[in-house]
Amino acid sequence: MASLRTPILAANWKMNLGPTAASGFFESFLSRYAARADRTVIMFPSAIALSAARHAAQARPDIQFGVQNVHTAEKGAFTGETSVSMAHDAGAQFVLIGHSERRHVFGETDAQTAEKVSRVSAQGLAPMLCVGEKIEEREAGQTNAVVARQLRAALEGLVKQDARAVGPLVIAYEPVWAIGTGRTATPQDASAAHAGIREELRGLSGAAGDTIPILYGGSVTATNASALLAAPGVDGLLVGGASLDPESWAAICSA
Ligand code: 13P
Repeated sequence: MASLRTPILAANWKMNLGPTAASGFFESFLSRYAARADRTVIMFPSAIALSAARHAAQARPDIQFGVQNVHTAEKGAFTGETSVSMAHDAGAQFVLIGHSERRHVFGETDAQTAEKVSRVSAQGLAPMLCVGEKIEEREAGQTNAVVARQLRAALEGLVKQDARAVGPLVIAYEPVWAIGTGRTATPQDASAAHAGIREELRGLSGAAGDTIPILYGGSVTATNASALLAAPGVDGLLVGGASLDPESWAAICSA
């Protein structure tokens, strides 16, 4: 049985599409994708393109926005960083946290991820926490253990304060070996990992753990989106490369 939660389609543009390109994207995308009550669309442009993107989509309140990263401090001498308040002021409702590129390219630790989740939640934005195993971890049969560790590390502090504090929160399962590689998890792989994540979320926050959407990400395309979205336990998709083209993103949002 497919999930009864409203599917979330989220676009992570990474370091692509500046303000001008973002405006052009929306002109094309919005003409191809009409608002649908049975879909939630969230866009993560680069922080510097967020205002232009929101402006270009101002006639479409169904499109929501987020940023790809934040710093844990409120303000100060942190050259190049963005605070949660700044992201909020620019119109972000969501923050990607712990994306595999943050973890593995920029060396972000589980502890930093936890701090970011707490800070973002405390300021009323919704964390979209990314978890996922590397290929050697998968081959060693450690997928569930790795993902459980990442979830516990990021969420335990939050849950200790109040189990109901877990929310709004979205989890994105993105196996590192599937990101940008063209090697997609099968719907069965995704379902198996999502079941492990759901179990861990229930263990951490009881019944509240049932309400947290779990998205799949990693080489999603307009061709494989429907099958992944139909997989049991998959509540939506987090898309990189295929979200940069308005036509393919519109097709994925309508999958
Ligand atoms: P790709 O869809 O390009 O594989 O990227 C996935 C991703 O990292 C989304 O956050």
